[in-house]
Amino acid sequence: VEQIKDEIERRVRSGLLRAGDRLPPARGLATELGVHRGTVAAAYSELAGEGVLASHVGRGTFVTEEAAQILPAAAPEGGAFRWRDHFGGFEPPAQRSEIEAALARDRDPGIISFVRNIPDEALFPTEAFRKSLNDVLREQGGPLLSYAAPEGHDVFLTFVREYLAQERGVTMGEDQLLIVNGSQQAMDLIARSFLRPGDTVLVEQPSYSGALDLFRAHGARLVTVPVDAGGVRVDEMESVLARERPKLLYVMPTFQNPTGSCLDPERRHEVVRLSARYEIPVIEDDFDGELYFDEAPPPPLKSIPGSEGVIYIGTPSKMLFPGLRVGWIAAEAPVVRRLSRVRRIADLSGSPLLQAGLARFAGTGALLRHMKRVRKAYGERMQRLLDGLSRDMPPGVTWTSPRGGLSVLVSLPEGQDSGELLRDGLEEGVLYTPGQMFYVNDGARHLRLSIGNVPTEQVGEGAKRLARVVRRGLGRGPRRNRTRNGLSLPTV
Ligand SMILES: Cc1ncc(COP(=O)(O)O)c(C=O)c1O
Repeated sequence: VEQIKDEIERRVRSGLLRAGDRLPPARGLATELGVHRGTVAAAYSELAGEGVLASHVGRGTFVTEEAAQILPAAAPEGGAFRWRDHFGGFEPPAQRSEIEAALARDRDPGIISFVRNIPDEALFPTEAFRKSLNDVLREQGGPLLSYAAPEGHDVFLTFVREYLAQERGVTMGEDQLLIVNGSQQAMDLIARSFLRPGDTVLVEQPSYSGALDLFRAHGARLVTVPVDAGGVRVDEMESVLARERPKLLYVMPTFQNPTGSCLDPERRHEVVRLSARYEIPVIEDDFDGELYFDEAPPPPLKSIPGSEGVIYIGTPSKMLFPGLRVGWIAAEAPVVRRLSRVRRIADLSGSPLLQAGLARFAGTGALLRHMKRVRKAYGERMQRLLDGLSRDMPPGVTWTSPRGGLSVLVSLPEGQDSGELLRDGLEEGVLYTPGQMFYVNDGARHLRLSIGNVPTEQVGEGAKRLARVVRRGLGRGPRRNRTRNGLSLPTV
């Protein structure tokens, strides 16, 4: 109730909601938020008691004339311009102020931070990459400082085609590849090309927060299928596909973010079959499939016969470094042609210098050497984390056991709220990402730990501190039995 009230109050203060504006019906909003209708009704009723809202039987709930006086605007930003009135179209996610403020402290001295799901700068092969960049620039000069073709720099396209075939078992023709600026841009281009506001996208629950925010910003309605240790629950998928007929399905079959789950080979085949049967395009986000610790994972969906509906996206961001802003899309030729035309209006081209530098770096064998090294390093960190959790966590807490990738999902007993516990985390010197970020509805009792930026020798101590934080929460009991005193997350 408090979270819904907070968000409505924030919107009144910021001018997003004005006198006379109608709020969505309680039932509709409740379904969207995944809460009970009574929760929304209670929030509306409390705000009506405070004079901010008024309900008229049969007509709905409205913002009152007095609301702006009761909840005056925060000090205006940017002088005379009321910028809020000028913004339109793309709606970025609401600020999760308290959580963002806590997470912003993840580089504070003394904090062991499991927040950043990115590789460790200390392991970057910076010098070898600098040499590759120097070499290609010296040899090829000017053209590398101009625009690339919208499909990508030709040498890099050739490298990606060979790499996908050899390392991932994904064989693509010349007109079936598109180089973009990172997999986030890949998803944005796909969303721009496939979605209209109100369209349904089927996502795993939990899922990557950056993708959820992106689809929401495009006005999509998100419908979920749960993930377990064997990946997304395909047994639950068919009925949802038949009922919802989504425009897109977004999955991370390999070392899923945030659970680290890897989709079983049989389930991979089933996703491909369902995509073909219901003619629903699937975005396969293969962002960290290379980061396996022992055995290579099953090949991607895109390598399975009949996977025409799969739009595969890859990136060097986790296996190498994210700052290159390079990524690739492997899809059927009509999809690539369409996305390439959309990319042209989005940003003209990627950087030929960085693409050529990366192709050269890989060509020297440095990329494969680097991958071997980081698989070992992250495998060791992961093992230490799993050992630490087994040793220190109180009963009732569970977690995933990934065989690759950087992240682990920890689940606390019912009634615990990982967002609230961030405050305890700051006191104990440990940070993580609260589960709300990855769930379409609720998710409060979960949290994500990423080993990417915790030096190996600190991982065990980090687990110990986290266990102390969890014990504090358990000592206070389930959330519903307490008055609200912790961090809150706007859910609307
Ligand atoms: C699952 C997933 N997909 C995509 C991305 C974005 O990657 P890129 O750097 O290629 O845009 C991330 C980054 O964290 C991610 O976790």
